[in-house]
Amino acid sequence: MKEDPSDNYDVCVVGGAGRVGLPLALVLADSGFKTLILDINKSSLEKIAAGTMPFREEGGDALLKKVHASDRLKLSTEARSAAGAALIVLTIGTPVDEFHNPNFSVLTRCLDELLPHLRDDQTIILRSTVAPGTTNYIEGYLRSRGKKTGLAFCPERVVQGRGIEEIRTLPQLISGTSPEALAAAKKLFCKIAPEVVEMTPLEAEFAKLVCNAFRYMQFAATNQLYMVVESAGLDYAELLSKMKRGYPRMDSIPGPGFAAGPCLMKDTMQLFAFQKHNFVLGQMATTVNEGLPNFIVEQLARRFDLRKKRIGILGMTFKAESDDIRDSLSYKLGKLLRFHGANVSYSDEYAKDPTFITKEDLVASNEVVIVGAAHNAYRQLRIPAKTEVVDLWNVLPA
Ligand SMILES: NC(=O)c1ccc[n+]([C@@H]2O[C@H](COP(=O)([O-])OP(=O)(O)OC[C@H]3O[C@@H](n4cnc5c(N)ncnc54)[C@H](O)[C@@H]3O)[C@@H](O)[C@H]2O)c1
Repeated sequence: MKEDPSDNYDVCVVGGAGRVGLPLALVLADSGFKTLILDINKSSLEKIAAGTMPFREEGGDALLKKVHASDRLKLSTEARSAAGAALIVLTIGTPVDEFHNPNFSVLTRCLDELLPHLRDDQTIILRSTVAPGTTNYIEGYLRSRGKKTGLAFCPERVVQGRGIEEIRTLPQLISGTSPEALAAAKKLFCKIAPEVVEMTPLEAEFAKLVCNAFRYMQFAATNQLYMVVESAGLDYAELLSKMKRGYPRMDSIPGPGFAAGPCLMKDTMQLFAFQKHNFVLGQMATTVNEGLPNFIVEQLARRFDLRKKRIGILGMTFKAESDDIRDSLSYKLGKLLRFHGANVSYSDEYAKDPTFITKEDLVASNEVVIVGAAHNAYRQLRIPAKTEVVDLWNVLPA
C-alpha cells in the first residue's frame, strides 16, 4: 500500500486518514480513481495499511478490504507525494479559537507544506467546513505565492459515521474560483454523487454553515423546552409523545439531548464571528446546549447531597454509536459532578480508555446513572430498582 514517489494519482486526499478524509478516499478508490492518502498520523496510516479502520465508520472495514484488493489506494506521510496527483482534496478546516474567531493557520500551515510541490495544472478542492470567505482568502494566498493551481470548495455534508453511504446518496455542493476548477471538481463528484449542485464559493461556504447552525439551533430549542418543562416537575419525553400523537406539525421536533461534537458549535461560531459577534440565535443556542449538563447537575443537587454520591455516566462519546469523544458534553457533566463532590465513573461502548468500567459494573456500583450518549447497547441493560436514572434519550429499559 505504500506509495512509490514516482507514481501518479487521480486524486490525493490530504488528511485522508481522518473522519472526513478516509470515507471519501475509500469511495474514490472504489469508484476507480487511483487515490493517495496523505496524512501525518502514522499510527492511523499503519492501521489502514493493515486493513483496519482507525475509527468506527459504517461499511468501512468491508470497503477498506475491497479497496486493498484493487490496489488503487496508496498511503504517504510526505507532502511531496501530492505532486503526482491531478486533484488534491484538503480536509483540513478552520477551527475556532478561544475567542470564537476562525483560525486559518491550520489550513495555511498545511498549504505551506504543499506549496513547493504544487503545479499549475492541478486543482485543490477544499472539503472541510470553512469560515465564510476562506476560499477567496486561500485563492489570494496561492496567487501571492506565484501558484496558478486551481481552487474549488466542495463541502461534505455527511453525518459522521455514515459517510460512505451518504457520499454516494446525497447531492454534492460544488463551487470553484474559476470555470476550470469548477469543471475539475464536477468531473470528480459526478462519478461518486447522485447529483451535483453548482454554486459560488461563498454560497457553498454559507450552505454548509447554515445546515449545521440550523441543526444546532433546533437541538437548542428542544433542549430549552426540556429544561422549562422538567423544571415544572413534568416528564418532557412523556409530554412530547402525547403532544405529537396524530399532530404532524410537531413531527420535526427533536428529542432533547447533548448537542456537541467537533462541528455543530464550531460552525455556529463561524457565523457568529462573521456577523461581528451579533448572531443572537446562534449565541443562545450555544448557551442552551452547553448549559444542559449544568441543568442536569442542578436538578440532581436539589434532590440529593452530591458529596460522596456515586454517579456513573453511560456513554462518553459526543453522540450515539460513535467512538468520537471530541467536545463531548459527557466530560463536562463529569467535571461538574466532581466539582460538587460526587464520585464519578465513566463507561463507553466504543471509546477506549483504561479508566472506563463496563456498563454492567457502572450500573451495579452507582446510586445515580446518567446517560451521556445513547448507545444501542444500553437498551438491554438491567437497572437495579433503587437506582436513580437520568436518561434524556429514553434509551434505557423502562
Ligand atoms: N467529523 C465530522 O463529522 C466533520 C464534519 C464536517 C467538518 N469537519 C471538519 O473537517 C475537518 C477534519 O475533521 P475530521 O473529523 O476529519 O478530523 P480528524 O482529526 O479525524 O482528521 C484530520 C486528519 O488530518 C490529518 N492532518 C492534520 N494536519 C495535516 C497535515 N498538515 N497534512 C496531512 N494530514 C494532516 C490528521 O492527522 C487527521 O488524520 C475539521 O476541520 C472538522 O471540523 C468534520
